[in-house]
Amino acid sequence: MSFPYKTVLMIGCTAGIGLALAERMIENGIFVIGVGRRKERLDAFVAKYGSKKAAASQFDITNVDGIKDWVAEVIKTYPDIDCVFLNSGIQRTLNFTKPEAIDLASVQQEMTTNYMSYVALTTYLLPHLQSLAPRPAALAAVTSGLALVPLPRCANYCATKAALHSLLWSLRAQLAGDEASRHVRVVEILPPAVQTELHELQEDLRARGHTNFGMPLVEFTDETWDALTKGKEEIPVGMVKDRFVKADDERREMFQQMVKMMGAT
Ligand SMILES: NC(=O)c1ccc[n+]([C@@H]2O[C@H](COP(=O)([O-])OP(=O)(O)OC[C@H]3O[C@@H](n4cnc5c(N)ncnc54)[C@H](OP(=O)(O)O)[C@@H]3O)[C@@H](O)[C@H]2O)c1
Ligand SMILES: *[C@@H]1O[C@H](CO)[C@@H](O)[C@H](O)[C@H]1NC(C)=O
Repeated sequence: MSFPYKTVLMIGCTAGIGLALAERMIENGIFVIGVGRRKERLDAFVAKYGSKKAAASQFDITNVDGIKDWVAEVIKTYPDIDCVFLNSGIQRTLNFTKPEAIDLASVQQEMTTNYMSYVALTTYLLPHLQSLAPRPAALAAVTSGLALVPLPRCANYCATKAALHSLLWSLRAQLAGDEASRHVRVVEILPPAVQTELHELQEDLRARGHTNFGMPLVEFTDETWDALTKGKEEIPVGMVKDRFVKADDERREMFQQMVKMMGAT
């Protein structure tokens, strides 16, 4: 099995994709530390599996200034963490035809949740993952098919995911080219629409009765887990795999040429 990690820090573990993947990991003997804001759900997660299989740490990743101290505390408590899943995310509608109704604070919150916190978490978690050499370690992040082909309704969400997708390519190239970081794999999961709480949490979608669409969560989890255990690094799922990801092939090739020509750092 090419999922050699034994202790996973799952950020965004109180619902949807993060919780489903965490449960799949626990079923496969992996210890999971779940993270999210909702304490009752974290407590229920640990209660369901017991403290030999699961743990939790309540944290709001939009507290970017607090990430450094929180990471230090988590690593001190769970020094065996060898894999981190950055999965937390939110989605908002952004309608430029009604600019007077745009709430820039909400746009900022989406940027911080889906992008800036990922950069900060990566920055503070990498020294620990680097220190595990020569043992394998991984940093996995969840982007979206909308990173490749944007959907105008949630324009800023797509932009945050496109930014993250781009960042992950560069991060992977940098670590692969560095002796002390080569053992840290960078994994990206690109889901299609999946039936989670992501859509239910949006007022305008609820108002239109349009919240329960996409791939059933179990199907998504089966396909993703299969790819993870095969050691894949870029994991498009469902229709993203069947259709969207082709659009990236030429870009990826040019990127590789660019890295060859200019180096990665
Ligand atoms: N569902 C889809 O159609 C779809 C498609 C493509 C990509 N994705 C991506 O998949 C990832 C998971 O989303 P999901 O669909 O599973 O949505 P979800 O059911 O709404 O779950 C989102 C998770 O993120 C956590 N989270 C959000 N803000 C947080 C914060 N400030 N601090 C800590 N945790 C936070 C939530 O925990 P708390 O609320 O308890 O903090 C929850 O555990 C996201 O990155 C999303 O963009 C989803
Ligand atoms: C955006 O605003 C226009 C103009 O008010 C409206 O017709 C449209 O339904 C809005 N779209 C969304 C997704 O709310």
